[in-house]
Amino acid sequence: MSDLAQSRPLKARRSASLKGVAVVPGDKSISHRALILGALALGETRITGLLEAEDVLNTAEAVRAFGARAIRTGAGAWLVHGTGVGGWGEPENVLDFGNSGTGSRLVMGAMATTPIAAVFTGDVSLRKRPMGRVLEPLKLFGAEYSARAGGLMPVTLKGAAQPISVEHKVAVASAQVKSAMLLAALNAPGHSRISQATLTRDHTERMLTAFGAEISVEPLPEGGEVISLMGEAELKGASVNVPRDPSSAAFAIVAGLIVPGSEISIPAVLLNPRRIGLIETLQEMGAKIDVANLRESGGEKIGDLVMHASALKGMEVPLGRAAAMIDEYPILAVASAFAEGRTVMRGLEELRHKESDRLAAIVAGLRAGGVAVQELEDGIVVEGRGADGVPGGGHIATRMDHRIAMAFLVMGLASREAMSVDDASVAATSFPEFEHLMRHLGAQFEGVAG
Ligand code: S3P
Repeated sequence: MSDLAQSRPLKARRSASLKGVAVVPGDKSISHRALILGALALGETRITGLLEAEDVLNTAEAVRAFGARAIRTGAGAWLVHGTGVGGWGEPENVLDFGNSGTGSRLVMGAMATTPIAAVFTGDVSLRKRPMGRVLEPLKLFGAEYSARAGGLMPVTLKGAAQPISVEHKVAVASAQVKSAMLLAALNAPGHSRISQATLTRDHTERMLTAFGAEISVEPLPEGGEVISLMGEAELKGASVNVPRDPSSAAFAIVAGLIVPGSEISIPAVLLNPRRIGLIETLQEMGAKIDVANLRESGGEKIGDLVMHASALKGMEVPLGRAAAMIDEYPILAVASAFAEGRTVMRGLEELRHKESDRLAAIVAGLRAGGVAVQELEDGIVVEGRGADGVPGGGHIATRMDHRIAMAFLVMGLASREAMSVDDASVAATSFPEFEHLMRHLGAQFEGVAG
């Protein structure tokens, strides 16, 4: 949502059992990458199942501004004609990435080794998020930047005229930073080696392979892995069939578990092992989630999910799982409010740098719904209400954070009193069909006078 657009308050009420098939949209991470790699490749990239949400559409605009052609030919169907690696031209205007950390950071990487300058900005939320984590390591290739104090947008990035290859260990557990470094390395002569202690989502690596890059990944003896990528790459356009987004499916999954009597199926969801932390955790909490028809699609694992309403029990979520479910903590927190006993989630300092300070937003939301929660520096401890039920009745400030809005609307579907959010329109960032899809399953939503 743009800063000036109207906010749209919405209330979610306790609903009768949710039933049916939830067809969730394409994966956000893969959609951004398909557009960017298509724009860097020579020849045509055909994308199906692209997520047509605000974040991704801003990335499409950005790659056009660099000189690629990105044409929508039908629902989720896009053709991209790229310029070749190093072929991007200078944008004529400021690039506005709206709410999208992923789009902006990946594009920074993709242009950092081409001798052009670009100005990056975004909405109120994005202009508060740290860009130094990407911009500082991009300097190793020879890029230069200026930003507001604290590395905040608006940012001007000047790509290196004579890029050099890089050996670098990414300091934060961030797939965005890793990906930005890999995209920059594409136009630096020779091999770059990018390593990371935490195994974050690997869609960039997989897709680079599909576009013909010379790339290899090896485990490090101390844990983590190192990625070697040959620069001055010649990427060739490819076909990308975007699987459905497990981070969007997460809202329907948890709704299906906490609303009594529900049974929901979600077909063809991305089940990349680095994205399924929520499903594993919920299953350990006692959730009945069946995974069927495991198959491959475009180098990614996908499958069909079926869940039934389940009695959940609290647990200590393994620290090492954080990266595989980093976007799912708001909805996991909601699930844990309905569980019997305590759920401990730690190792989550990264959540303070998302679309909002998500730890603070989760704590405020749970308390507004009558759930006891302790805020730690790096996590939360939720006292599940179990058989006592969740009181609800709260009003949530969404803080321009799509996942906070959707998580607490789901909470309202099973709490005693309704839950309301100040702005449901923010769901359009990643999941424009959220409200429609949930209503179709039986969710009770009603508009609230602003
Ligand atoms: C993403 C990486 C994660 C995630 C974001 C998407 C990606 O961010 O939170 O929604 O597509 O690479 P970080 O890299 O900041 O952890």
